[in-house]
Amino acid sequence: MCGITGYTGFNQAGPILLEGLKRLEYRGYDSAGIAVQDESEIKMLKATGKVSHLVEKFEATPDFTGVCGIGHTRWATHGIPSDTNAHPHLSADGKFAVVHNGIIENFAEIRAELQKYGIEFKSETDTEVIVQLLAYNYKGNFKMALMKTIARLEGSYAIGVISADHPGTILAARLSSPLIIGIGIGENYFASDITALVSNTKNVIDMDDGEVAEITPEEVKFYDHAGREINKEIRHITWDIASAEKSGYEHFMLKEIMEQPQALKATIEPRVKDESIVLDELNLDMKKFNRIHITACGSAYHAGCVGRGIIESLCRIPVEAEVASELRYRDPIMDEKTLVIVISQSGETADTIAAMKECRSKGATILAIVNVVGSSIAKLADYCLYTWAGPEIAVATTKGYTTQVVLLAMFAVWAAGEMKTISQGAYISMVKDIMRLPERAQRALDLNSRVKTMAEKYFDNSSLFFIGRNMDYAVALEGSLKLKEISYLHSEAYAAGELKHGTIALIEPGRLVVALCCYEKLLDKTISNIQQVKARGARVLAVAHEGNRAIFTEADDVLSVPVTDPLLVPVIEIIPLQLFAYYVAKKNGCDIDKPKNLAKSVTVE
Ligand code: G6P
Repeated sequence: MCGITGYTGFNQAGPILLEGLKRLEYRGYDSAGIAVQDESEIKMLKATGKVSHLVEKFEATPDFTGVCGIGHTRWATHGIPSDTNAHPHLSADGKFAVVHNGIIENFAEIRAELQKYGIEFKSETDTEVIVQLLAYNYKGNFKMALMKTIARLEGSYAIGVISADHPGTILAARLSSPLIIGIGIGENYFASDITALVSNTKNVIDMDDGEVAEITPEEVKFYDHAGREINKEIRHITWDIASAEKSGYEHFMLKEIMEQPQALKATIEPRVKDESIVLDELNLDMKKFNRIHITACGSAYHAGCVGRGIIESLCRIPVEAEVASELRYRDPIMDEKTLVIVISQSGETADTIAAMKECRSKGATILAIVNVVGSSIAKLADYCLYTWAGPEIAVATTKGYTTQVVLLAMFAVWAAGEMKTISQGAYISMVKDIMRLPERAQRALDLNSRVKTMAEKYFDNSSLFFIGRNMDYAVALEGSLKLKEISYLHSEAYAAGELKHGTIALIEPGRLVVALCCYEKLLDKTISNIQQVKARGARVLAVAHEGNRAIFTEADDVLSVPVTDPLLVPVIEIIPLQLFAYYVAKKNGCDIDKPKNLAKSVTVE
């Protein structure tokens, strides 16, 4: 969950590395550093805090020159954020520098061993063992030394290494952490993610587990784990730099919220032909399965909670949804009759990958719903459906979530068709409603200024509650998470019917309760819960369907969203809640795109 990048060519590496790190900052931002190889020495600059601090240091260091280098932005796992613990790490002899994303699980053992040989360690990180071991293994052949080194490493890594004695050469290797090579003309790159490269090149090569790349300005050579040279295919990226920039918005989060109609359209339209859902990617016999498990983390898990409701309702098959960090250690009961749906925006979340492997070992079939093309989860799954949301940069997901939900709904309709659990009329009606979601999402976005007013009214609540039932409850989970992760306010999501079993004790005069009232089958019940909290002095902000007049007499304020099928409610209802979280965080002066302590791609357990 750090970001790494590297450059070798004819330009100065410093500015290119810093530009790449700025784009990778969403992966971690507690410290950053760069190293360049110049005239048989390695120069290094590090700074605690954001990449902007490193940029300041760089600007104050005019002799930081060199045309080959590596960079890193960190999300601390081993050792506090500090200049010493920031990457790159240097070998004791000063000859090698490394950047690393991932975790070396056997670092303590390797460190103890190297210390016995008198090698001194400077940092508290697991990463430092890589570079010290590499220097120890080095007998004149850079690549051999790296191959020998990675053979000892357990855990996960994407690494980039430079050597004082090998001008212009970067070695890169990966195991269970993303790594992409960018191909230029007379200059080549690597990075954790395409966003860092897209302003320089659109030709990339995805590295696979166990592979090593030898990157020089003229060419990139790839080797398998045994050191045999292999050929890899170049992939051409279709999106441009504007997709990875703010395009005039103050924050990526707002831009991504506003992009939802297009993201939904891109996810839906290629998969609907003549009022039928066509999932060419799935050559699945649904009749083979007698249960479905959905697993994911964070917002993707919340999308899974919505998916559970939709699939059960349409396919009449038991569906469970569970966070991956629990499922992976629960010894779940499943076999070859189980379909496991894993959901992940990044496709790199460590717990999700581990849960997926656990389920696979029990014979389950794995279907992944992923946004990042070529990511680990996409590659490891038996089947993959991509949410075509485009790059998502803000740490708090928005378009990632809604496209996951819509794809789950499309899968549910498709599967119900295969399993013959849906009538022709209901099938066509669902498809039509799905097709209308982009336009309805746009109408929900038109609430923007009204939501801003609500945020300005309620932003100073120190603790608040989101309540709802059924689909509304699933949305409450995500609405509450959005608010807490970017505004740092205490917020809880509660099944409205459960309030009276404990949480209602916390309702006091002035407390804000956000009541989700779009799941109309249970509207009367939710209204009773609204009355219960109002009777205890709470203020209520309701999200309800347009045309619902009753709610205006119950709630203090109402946000009215377009009517849609009850199973598709979450796609529309979450939009004002995303905006609410955004404006509350803004009003509270929070760092919206990079909330404290969080990272977008969580590649550690
Ligand atoms: C982190 C992010 C969340 C995201 C979760 C799962 O916690 O901050 O926004 O929902 O990881 O990420 P994934 O990439 O697997 O969807």
